[in-house]
Amino acid sequence: MRIPVIAGNWKLFKKQADAAALVAALVPLVKDTVGVEIVVAPVFTSLAAVREKIVGTNVKLSAQNCYWEEEGAFTGEIAPGMLADAGCSHVIIGHSERRQFFGESDATVNKKITAALSAGLVVLFCIGETLAEREADRTFDVLRTQVTGGLSGIPLSALASIVIAYEPVWAIGTGKTASDAQAQEAHAFIRSLVVELYDQHSADAIRILYGGSVKPDNVKGLMSQTDIDGALVGGASLKADSFAAIVNFAK
Ligand code: PGA
Repeated sequence: MRIPVIAGNWKLFKKQADAAALVAALVPLVKDTVGVEIVVAPVFTSLAAVREKIVGTNVKLSAQNCYWEEEGAFTGEIAPGMLADAGCSHVIIGHSERRQFFGESDATVNKKITAALSAGLVVLFCIGETLAEREADRTFDVLRTQVTGGLSGIPLSALASIVIAYEPVWAIGTGKTASDAQAQEAHAFIRSLVVELYDQHSADAIRILYGGSVKPDNVKGLMSQTDIDGALVGGASLKADSFAAIVNFAK
């Protein structure tokens, strides 16, 4: 039994007051939802404001990135332990926007995952192919490289704290969702990679989320696929009603 995760990635939106208002509006809409892990990921500067509103609720707090050192002369960075200290239980690592715009590679993603796990955080580990890679029929190769690189050296015992998010880059913020079948095919492949790298038991247990233009009207179809265990939601997570509708996909 894999408990679905619905995570809202707020990206570079929402200062403190707006972030607090959004989560305050969300909490009552999802308070009776059981059997779904609900996560929101505001910007660093809004973490405290959001945390205040979710204490004692079923909504969990995530950051959108972290560094791989716990302290030191690394101006501008934030350590995983500092995120835990700020109330985060989760952290997104390797989002395609970080890979695309901030030079993150499988190697840096791997260091970040390792450090985040050491700090006790659950990692939302993002992977996904670009349109050019899909059109060149390289999707599976890219996913293999990203999964193998990102999880390099991560022991089987840590796998329970990893959630994989498959986000085809061409579907992020474009309104183009992968079809249910396209997403299922990629998810099944990713799960088979986990079998190869670890074992069947861990592969059966690991949650694999889909991300890329998930909306209230397409979430049901995606969630009905065997290997899709939740969603990483960008745009539709910025409004309480649309994110709640996605969280409540089963209702
Ligand atoms: P989107 O973003 O839902 O706006 O496509 C998803 C993501 O980037 O995590």
